[in-house]
Amino acid sequence: MNAGETKRPISVLMVCLGNICRSPLAEAALRQVAERERIRLRVDSAGTGDWHVGNPPDWRAREVAKRLGAIDISDLRARQVSANDFYVFDHILAMDGDNLANLTALRPVDATANLSLLLDYVPGQKGNAVADPYYGDTTGFEITWVQVSAAAAAFAKSLR
Ligand code: 4NP
Repeated sequence: MNAGETKRPISVLMVCLGNICRSPLAEAALRQVAERERIRLRVDSAGTGDWHVGNPPDWRAREVAKRLGAIDISDLRARQVSANDFYVFDHILAMDGDNLANLTALRPVDATANLSLLLDYVPGQKGNAVADPYYGDTTGFEITWVQVSAAAAAFAKSLR
């Protein structure tokens, strides 16, 4: 039986700092891969910080998702990750080492979620970060999209 045939969809939470740049793009990329490969996944995203809670993704993330991925992510709203997420999701995937450290501190001792870096799933990129594009220009968001798309495909492959 492969991942697409399990009864309960595998659930995945993408986590960055603000939940307005990297993790919404990673969420959209994984949704797209799951649809294409007919894998039943439940995908969400959150931030370790609370500054942008309730906000839609950064306009540059929305623009890049539309232009490079043909996906509209304007309906997404930022939320902060919680300890409860460690019981709700099967996989929590952090964008960078700071996110991973914050998540490790938040993780309950009896957490059931598997916690790792998103890029750990990409051969040769274990320990690498999805760079934060927030303070740069649109090019940084294009790089983010390419990175999270490749990682989403590699993650999906790991479920097979
Ligand atoms: P993200 O990017 O973590 O990829 O959503 C950031 C968004 C906002 C801030 C930093 C990074 N900020 O400092 O407000």
